[in-house]
Amino acid sequence: MRPIMVAGNWKMNGLSADAVHLTQAILHAEMEPMRPEVVIFPPFTLLHAVSQEAKSSALRWGGQNLFWEASGAYTGEISGAMLRDMGCRYVLIGHSERRQIFAESDAQVAQKVKVALLSGLTPVVCVGETEAERAQGATEAVIHRQVEAVLPLLNLETSQPNMIIAYEPIWAIGTGLSASPEQAQAVHAFIRGLVAAYSTQLAKRLLLLYGGSVKGNNAAALFGQTDIDGGLVGGASLQVGEFIQICRAAELAGRGG
Ligand code: PGA
Repeated sequence: MRPIMVAGNWKMNGLSADAVHLTQAILHAEMEPMRPEVVIFPPFTLLHAVSQEAKSSALRWGGQNLFWEASGAYTGEISGAMLRDMGCRYVLIGHSERRQIFAESDAQVAQKVKVALLSGLTPVVCVGETEAERAQGATEAVIHRQVEAVLPLLNLETSQPNMIIAYEPIWAIGTGLSASPEQAQAVHAFIRGLVAAYSTQLAKRLLLLYGGSVKGNNAAALFGQTDIDGGLVGGASLQVGEFIQICRAAELAGRGG
């Protein structure tokens, strides 16, 4: 059985006091340790505060982005080693906001995944189609292109996948209009099939998260799908009650670690 994961992407929100408050609230929710695996992605400026609150707990945290060089004259960028130094285990790569607002290409996403792996981080690679692409029937073609850019970086020599993939249809992000469980399941199954072409073993174990307007009231139906192994949650991760409800839904989805 694959474990289930709930990841909270805070995006560019929050100051120190919010980080302390949110992190403490999650810690006090007394979820069963490690089930689900709960990971938060605060802005870089809050990583230290989160790490101080969460360091001796099962809660994990990660960066929302990183740069592909190890160090040097790259004003404003953050390296994998810097994230590790903040206690990060994970890093989001290729979020649609990075792809759309900052023009990150598939090739750049792959470079970032490579350096994340070299730094000992688990990349959470985000993929997803726009509303227009879905309307044109191009969803699978887009997902295929985005996923194929990173699959050569799968480590085929181990049985545990070295990355996580998050399917986030762009039309569902921040819109309140989640993909239906069936729509999401169909794309997740498609992605798992792409991974299976590399390794059936890794495909079975790869965590596939769904993101895009996951809320307390739709999480259970999404997490109940065969190929949905949890959620990447934006807006609702900033609302303690909603986020805990989503974590509870994951807990009830009843998967062991
Ligand atoms: P949302 O964002 O939950 O606010 O739709 C998801 C994401 O962008 O990761």
